[in-house]
Amino acid sequence: TQAPVNVTVTGAAGQIGYALLFRIASGQLLGPDTPVRLRLLEIPQAVKAAEGTALELEDGAFPLLAGTDIFDDAKQAFAGANVALLVGARPRTKGMERGDLLEANGGIFKPQGEAINAGAADDIKVLVVGNPANTNALIAQAHAPDVPAERFTAMTRLDHNRALAQLSKKLGVPVSEIKKLAIWGNHSATQYPDIFHAEVAGKNAAEAVNDQAWLADTFIPTVAKRGAAIIEARGASSAASAASAAIDHVHTWVNGTPEGDWTSAAVVSDGSYGVPEGLISSFPVTARNGKYEIVQGLEIDEFSRARIDASVQELTEERDAVKKLGLI
Ligand code: NAI
Repeated sequence: TQAPVNVTVTGAAGQIGYALLFRIASGQLLGPDTPVRLRLLEIPQAVKAAEGTALELEDGAFPLLAGTDIFDDAKQAFAGANVALLVGARPRTKGMERGDLLEANGGIFKPQGEAINAGAADDIKVLVVGNPANTNALIAQAHAPDVPAERFTAMTRLDHNRALAQLSKKLGVPVSEIKKLAIWGNHSATQYPDIFHAEVAGKNAAEAVNDQAWLADTFIPTVAKRGAAIIEARGASSAASAASAAIDHVHTWVNGTPEGDWTSAAVVSDGSYGVPEGLISSFPVTARNGKYEIVQGLEIDEFSRARIDASVQELTEERDAVKKLGLI
């Protein structure tokens, strides 16, 4: 039998953590043949709550769960990590400026990047979920110079799944019939969900929709502002859907995308599509042999170009801001 894979989860006592850990333990992150050992990182005040979750994990009697360890020290939590899910972050509170938010998160993601650099396993794969996810991933990556940059990714899979669901409802087709959707740019309200290359039952999705007004005025804002709609309805931010998307992101990374399809993830730009090299931006990506690769050669029309540029501009500004703060 295989040795357990070490999965480190930060923010383990939070609401996403609560939805995520049980799915990891049940084998949905890495597959039904791979045992996992959970390494949970929390701030000292939340360690007790994480211990409570660990008791429940034990009570799940998951055949694939080799054990759960809890830490309040990043160096220990990331030691030997094969997969790291960086969920814990400093949320924006009322009256907080963007600079303050970036600075507070720099205080979290810089030491975590250093800890990953110091002690993670050679095959470490990092997914940043905690917001601002793309820039938090950039900060962590900047402090892990010995880890290949492409191992740091940020999550736009939830946006991708939201776009799939909206398009499926509009066209009355199951999500399984929709291929090649793409989220571009930042995981923020400027993101661009792109259906121009998407296929529905073999037909071009934009042609199947044939409704530019719906696309511009309903589809794009519904996907981009879905997080706010969830908060409004639920009185709390999306948690189970975010956990589900994190499972999807890592599962795809490890197991690959099906032939004839792709997904979306924020990965380090190699300059493709005019996205400045080094930014962690969402692209259409395929996964093969444990690597995400940016889909090349897509034609970008004017409508898409303007939206991609606007979101990438926001990422550039966030990068400039964290540079100015000395965080990268
Ligand atoms: P939450 O507030 O319920 O939990 C966050 C947890 O992180 C808390 O238990 C807190 O103690 C912990 N934490 C804070 N600093 C930490 C540190 N330095 N090390 C370890 N743990 C630390 O928040 P929730 O709902 O679980 O969301 C977590 C993050 O995910 C938020 O930043 C949220 O904005 C983001 N998010 C991202 C999405 C995406 O699509 N990329 C979707 C939904 C949420």
